[in-house]
Amino acid sequence: MDEKALRQAAGFLKDAGAVLVFAGAGLSAESGVPTFRDAGGLWEGHRVEDVATPEGFQRDPILVWRFYAERQVALQKVKPNPGHFALARMEHAFPSFLVATQNIDNLSEQAGQTKLVKIHGDLMTIWCTRCSYEGVLENPINPAVLTTRENLPRCPACQVLARPAVVWFGEYLPPNTIEVAQEFAFQADCLLMVGTSGAVSGGYGLADIVKGRGGKVIEINPSETYLTGQADIALRGPSSICLPSLLEISGR
Ligand code: OAD
Repeated sequence: MDEKALRQAAGFLKDAGAVLVFAGAGLSAESGVPTFRDAGGLWEGHRVEDVATPEGFQRDPILVWRFYAERQVALQKVKPNPGHFALARMEHAFPSFLVATQNIDNLSEQAGQTKLVKIHGDLMTIWCTRCSYEGVLENPINPAVLTTRENLPRCPACQVLARPAVVWFGEYLPPNTIEVAQEFAFQADCLLMVGTSGAVSGGYGLADIVKGRGGKVIEINPSETYLTGQADIALRGPSSICLPSLLEISGR
């Protein structure tokens, strides 16, 4: 990591009152959760259309449920990394703070993050396909039991098929998520874009909002991304190293 860039970025945070974080799969990469678009990504062996669209679910709900159940099981074996813990500490270091994450794992919560909006849903939650029921699973679903449509998870309220509470391609984001982050951006002095390619959303316009009010944008990512052009400064390294260093050097 470039020391000069690190000091400059820390300078942006030194006097910041409100800090917004926009996080993606790279934040959890070092915990062992595969990212979407790097080699060995989450959809390897599966077509996106089959496992991450409403049409795919309609066509073959058993395949889709097994796919997410396998990920629920895998999630039980991973732990938050120093990047998650640094973000959780930042919550107490700034008067106003929010993480908007695209990650559907629960590693931020496990690290103690409470000021968090999950804009792409949650792997351990289910939604009803008919009513507005939303429920948190206590344990992962065993993929081996998902052999017939009758065995798939059901809504406890109306007994119809339930689905993973994960946003698929072509779907709206859950209410009270991105709009909360965008509203926060209007008062943010600094935006950290951490471990996201920006490939899907283009960052939901968060950088433009923050810069529009004179705030600073810091990208944390080992590689260039679609969002790099929107950043005032880029820290090229893993988030597990960059985030703790940034917090420490900022003196917050
Ligand atoms: P991507 O897989 O598109 O991007 C992951 C980013 O993490 C890349 O830019 C990597 O360079 C970076 N990265 C890898 N290792 C890292 C590390 N150790 N530290 C920091 N960064 C690292 O994942 P997202 O940007 O999160 O949406 O993808 C956004 C959305 O695309 C996902 O939420 C998902 C998918 O469509 C839905 O499912 C709705």
